[in-house]
Amino acid sequence: MKRLLITGGSGYLGARLTALADEAGAWEVTPTFLANPIPHPAATRADLRDREAVAALGRRVRPDVIIHQGVSNRSDEHVAAIVPAARHIMDAAIATGARLIHVSTDLVFDGEHPPYSEQSPVAPVNPYGAAKAYAEGLIAGAMPEALIVRPSLIYGFGPVDKQTAWLLDGVRRGQPVRLFTDEIRCPVWVDTLALALLELAESKLTGVLNIAGPPLNRWDFGMKMLACLGVPPGPTVARSTIAESGLQRPADLTMDASKARRLLRTHILTVEEAFAAHCAQPRRP
Ligand SMILES: NC(=O)c1ccc[n+]([C@@H]2O[C@H](COP(=O)([O-])OP(=O)(O)OC[C@H]3O[C@@H](n4cnc5c(N)ncnc54)[C@H](OP(=O)(O)O)[C@@H]3O)[C@@H](O)[C@H]2O)c1
Repeated sequence: MKRLLITGGSGYLGARLTALADEAGAWEVTPTFLANPIPHPAATRADLRDREAVAALGRRVRPDVIIHQGVSNRSDEHVAAIVPAARHIMDAAIATGARLIHVSTDLVFDGEHPPYSEQSPVAPVNPYGAAKAYAEGLIAGAMPEALIVRPSLIYGFGPVDKQTAWLLDGVRRGQPVRLFTDEIRCPVWVDTLALALLELAESKLTGVLNIAGPPLNRWDFGMKMLACLGVPPGPTVARSTIAESGLQRPADLTMDASKARRLLRTHILTVEEAFAAHCAQPRRP
């Protein structure tokens, strides 16, 4: 079996990616974690900021493929780790001859010039987007055979993603929740993204690939998620706009995902299709 190293196996996408890779049966999977241990026989603790530790991990696992999706935007500390982690993983991929798939984000864009294709120039407006954009440039410059995947908002149902958990928490506690009608994202189901990444792990595709669902504003997306989950929105959920909130965030991150739709066997589902597929899955004990 080919060896697959998944960074951030304890994260939201990482956990599902690890589970689906194991289920596929075609990979010897090594997921990594940092602060949150995972019940996986090959789980390995690795601080990706530690250059030597990452090099040693590469020498021990000798991966055929690395899917580097660990380190997101949970805190300033995580954001500060994005570039060093990407550099160390890239060096390990070069040293071991592994295929590298680096998971980036739609937040490398400013939200002012949609739709964004793989060729659109990056223009981040926050430190997370800037770190991700820098990491992309680093990898594209030193390792043109790598693949950079740009997902939009990642969601799921079992368990729900952190944005949906925040919405459900507000509804259940009867606390005010504002959902912006002028904030456009292209939400992608965590299973769709994980399956696409596993498909790409076996391909030779290089460069950049957007993986994103149909565009939705955050109000419509929130309403669809609540409808799927059978939770009435209640009186505390309000429509609002980024402009009214005074927050600085990219408004319209409509992604052109036509390349992914053309190249991938994995179908990029709508929210309703994803919920139906989730409900059809066998329940885990
Ligand atoms: N969530 C989204 O909507 C979204 C949208 C677009 C792109 N993305 C990208 O998709 C990827 C997955 O996002 P996610 O939301 O699933 O992430 P997440 O749940 O926040 O998980 C982050 C993972 O990174 C690990 N990690 C953090 N700092 C680390 C370090 N210094 N060394 C080693 N591991 C470290 C964490 O390990 P511990 O928990 O064990 O500490 C965890 O496994 C990220 O690259 C993110 O930028 C996410």
